[in-house]
Formats: sequence, structure tokens, C-alpha cells
Amino acid sequence: MSYGLLKGKKGIIFGALNEQSIAWKVAERCHEEGAEFILSNAPIAMRMGELNALAEKTGSDVIGADATSIEDLEKLFDAAVAKFGKIDFILHSIGMSVNVRKGKHYTEMNYDWLEKGWDVSAVSFHKVMRVAWEKDCMNEWGSILALTYIAAQRTFPDYNDMSDNKAYLESIARTFGNYWGERKVRVNTVSQSPTPTTAGSGVKGFGGFLGYAEDMSPLGNATALDCANYCVTLFSDLTKKVTMQNLFHDGGFSSSGVTQKVINKYDDENK
Ligand code: NAI
Repeated sequence: MSYGLLKGKKGIIFGALNEQSIAWKVAERCHEEGAEFILSNAPIAMRMGELNALAEKTGSDVIGADATSIEDLEKLFDAAVAKFGKIDFILHSIGMSVNVRKGKHYTEMNYDWLEKGWDVSAVSFHKVMRVAWEKDCMNEWGSILALTYIAAQRTFPDYNDMSDNKAYLESIARTFGNYWGERKVRVNTVSQSPTPTTAGSGVKGFGGFLGYAEDMSPLGNATALDCANYCVTLFSDLTKKVTMQNLFHDGGFSSSGVTQKVINKYDDENK
């Protein structure tokens, strides 16, 4: 169902890799709501070719950019300005940890890998905003979003250095969000339920994360499509004064001490 919430709005969506990607669903929903945008991903991810199908479906251009490269980002934003003039929204849906990928335990952290993952998963958000800031290419009442996970606030075994990267990412949203306020642009992070995607499934024990979160969330886990719908509201004019927030989108997980479902499980086990 479409409400025309993003009619006339222009943006850049980072991080759609395949149909499971949260950014893929966001792009589909933004298109349905009337937005136009450029799709961007790391050149290596684009070589897989799946993004072209999404570009065709949504009538979008695809422009590769390594989000850790200021040079790539400058070219991307120049292309966006050439196509659209100023833009209204940006989605940062990017994450990667080399320590997670290579199964390096947190207590044995490889610091070179940490730096790479931190740059990709957290600092890239600063770089994206910095390039947009220097080019002064956001319209007033624009909206900038990044995706995050509750491991920034609470420990989850094997989420590894991504926990620290997400804490840093959320801090960048608050800190840069202060300056963006001068230009009437809002900056937020959406803290999403575990979601079966390429990045999500790469975390050891992901099935356990997913099932536990489902049982601990009164509304159940939020899907990628649910997340996309929430992002649409945050890009729309209905949320103009929401900024510098970490917004939990998790079916109630973040406020639950324990749920009846989990109590019953342990009660049965301990009878
Ligand atoms: P995904 O694997 O579909 O997306 C991650 C994207 O990051 C990919 O498109 C990848 O190509 C891109 N990327 C990696 N390095 C890059 C670079 N140097 N430059 C530009 N792009 C780069 O997985 P998903 O789950 O859709 O991830 C999107 C965001 O959502 C990430 O920030 C992730 O941490 C976050 N998130 C995911 C959850 C999950 O359980 N899947 C839960 C909460 C947050």
C-alpha cells in the first residue's frame, strides 16, 4: 500500500546487496512512496550484479562508492547533485567486521581488522555526512539515517567488535546531528531486530539471536520490510523534529526484562 509519503523527494541509498538486504526493501518502499534515488554500494559488491535488477525496478541509477573513500563519496554526491540538485534523504545501511568474518574471538581481537571494520561500519557514516555537509547538498527538513543494533548497549556473545562499531556509529549520529540541526536536517539511527541477511547471518550463532529475540519481543521480531516502512516514515515530513535519536525498531525487545514465553520455557525446564 502506498501513501505517497515521499512524493518529490530525492535521495541516496547505500547498502542494497541482494533481495534480503534491509536497504533493498527500503529502496522498494521509497520507490512505492514516490521517491527518486541513487543506489550505491562498494564496487566489489556491485560486481555481483544483483543491484541492477533493483535499479531497473525502481528507475534508479547505480553508482559505486567505497563508503570509506572520500574521493568515491565526492564523485557520488557530485553525480547526485547533477541529477537531482539538493537531496532530501540518505540511508547508510553498511556494516562489516573482518574479525566476525574470520571468526576471530573478541578476546583475541586483531586490531588491523578492527580498524578496517570500524572504518566501514562506523566512520563511513561520518564520511558520508561530511561530504554531504561540505557540498551543502541537503534540502532543509532532510533526513539522514543509519542502521544499528542493540549490541551497542548490551552484550551479545560473538557480535564481537561490531558492538563497539555500532556504539561509535550511534555516537556519530548524535554528534554530527547537532551541527546538521543548523541546516534543519535530522540525523537518527534505527536499531533493528536481528534480520536474516548476508551481514546478519554472518554472525556466529545467528539462529540463536533470531529465536531468542523473537521470544523476547512482545510483537515479535521486526522484518526487513517492517524496517523499510519505518525508514519511510523517518524520511517523510511526518517526523521533522525527530533528531539525534537511537530509535529502537524491535517489537519491544529493548524494553523487555523477560516475556511470558521465556518464563514458560524455563519454568518447564526447571519443574
Ligand atoms: P547486507 O549484507 O545486505 O548489507 C550490508 C551492506 O554493506 C552490503 O550491501 C555491503 O556491500 C555493504 N558494504 C560493506 N562494505 C562496504 C563499503 N566499504 N562501502 C560501501 N558499502 C559497503 O546486510 P544488512 O543486514 O541489510 O545490513 C545493513 C545494515 O543493517 C548494517 O549496518 C547492519 O549492521 C544493520 N543491521 C542488521 C541487522 C541484521 O540482523 N541483519 C540487525 C540490525 C542492524
